[in-house]
Amino acid sequence: MSPFHAASIGAAKARRQRLSTLLGDTPALIPAGAPCSRNFPSNVYSFRASSHFLYLIGHALPGAYALLEGERTRLFVQPPAEDDALWHGAVPSFAELAAQLDCELVALDQLPAALAKLDASSLLAPDHATQARQRELLGRAPDASTSERDARLAEAILSLRLVHDAAAIDELRLAGEGTVAAHIAGMHVTRPGIGEAAICAAMEMELRRRDMGTSYESIVTVHGEVLHNVSHAGVARAGDILLADVGAETPRGWAGDVTRCWPVSGTFEGGQRDAYQVVLNAQAAALAIAKPGTRYRDVHLAAARATTQGLLDLGVLTGDVDELVADGVHALLFPHGVGHLLGLDVHDMEDLGDRAGYAEGRARSEQFGLSYLRLDRDLEPGMAVTIEPGLYVVPAILEDETLRRVEAGRLNRAALDALNVRGIRIEDDILITETGHQVLTAGAPKSVAEVEATVGG
Ligand code: GLY
Ligand code: MN
Ligand code: MN
Repeated sequence: MSPFHAASIGAAKARRQRLSTLLGDTPALIPAGAPCSRNFPSNVYSFRASSHFLYLIGHALPGAYALLEGERTRLFVQPPAEDDALWHGAVPSFAELAAQLDCELVALDQLPAALAKLDASSLLAPDHATQARQRELLGRAPDASTSERDARLAEAILSLRLVHDAAAIDELRLAGEGTVAAHIAGMHVTRPGIGEAAICAAMEMELRRRDMGTSYESIVTVHGEVLHNVSHAGVARAGDILLADVGAETPRGWAGDVTRCWPVSGTFEGGQRDAYQVVLNAQAAALAIAKPGTRYRDVHLAAARATTQGLLDLGVLTGDVDELVADGVHALLFPHGVGHLLGLDVHDMEDLGDRAGYAEGRARSEQFGLSYLRLDRDLEPGMAVTIEPGLYVVPAILEDETLRRVEAGRLNRAALDALNVRGIRIEDDILITETGHQVLTAGAPKSVAEVEATVGG
């Protein structure tokens, strides 16, 4: 069992109190989820509790269910098996667990009786076995799009998790520190001929030594144009740019999410330097307006305009900035959204769908590129988001007949080829403050000079 963390457990209790005010007399069943088998039942993937459970309890308890009714919280937990002490070491008694977690503890087999006639609201657990058990326990599948009470619970939790409290911000800072250390370590070990796997290992070692994990599968590749490329089988050679998208997960489950790109040789070649600077300028333009009251879609569009202007200056695009952005021409080279919410999940609360990322009355665009924007809320103090523009040369996009019609002769392919880049992204984690924002991951080298001075160092 992971160690108890008093600050997280205390913060969780305060969150439950706030949730009970929002929920009124609607009871809520929050499952922790269960470990998933890799190949046979006793060999499981490392357990990661549901983020809603971690948020409200502050501790991972495999197989547990929290039942919230007004100010009362009961935790339903499987009592220890006789041989647990042999395989897992000393297991706390119910009384000890109750004291540590500041919750009432009840044996799991009492849960069906406790739920009878309650008509509790719930949110789906991450794993299929727990989802099936939830359907049995509730007599229905939790679904915030069809059930009013599930929607009420989703909205209540979302309103809490959108704006981070002090304990959450401490965890996000910790995740940021680990993430920064990982990126510096990755830059340090890079030299021509090293395997992507060796760079990835050096980065993840910085996390493991802090007793942290990764908040998603690490992307460490010289093929950054493959957006979710999780193969580490390649070799980094002189002339390549390495893209590393690696984020820490703190022992309590909070996420970091940073991307840096660096030249394997230690020096950006001419065109690569220009392309890198375009992405850096786009990130600066987005950061410049990231403050309370700004609509996140406008942060995205600021990055899109700066990218377009940079590509016009390099002769890669021709035309008018506003027209190119309105037509989505930049999206052929910057096809994803500029970022997302960050918290316990790397794409925070994406299990709740666009209810989390999109404010009421806003919906995803259908235009290629803008359709991938995961967040369209007005920024508020206490929100954490990523800012991650990029530039990619993706053959599947550039050869697509429909998308070529978007370009309509405004993309100079020879000038694009001359940049000699495949994929560049620059990503930081920021916390919105009362007056602007704070970059939680500012320690990761980013300017051309800083990056070149760190690679191979
Ligand atoms: N690492 C996933 C993302 O940047 O969204
Ligand atoms: Mn991200
Ligand atoms: Mn990322």
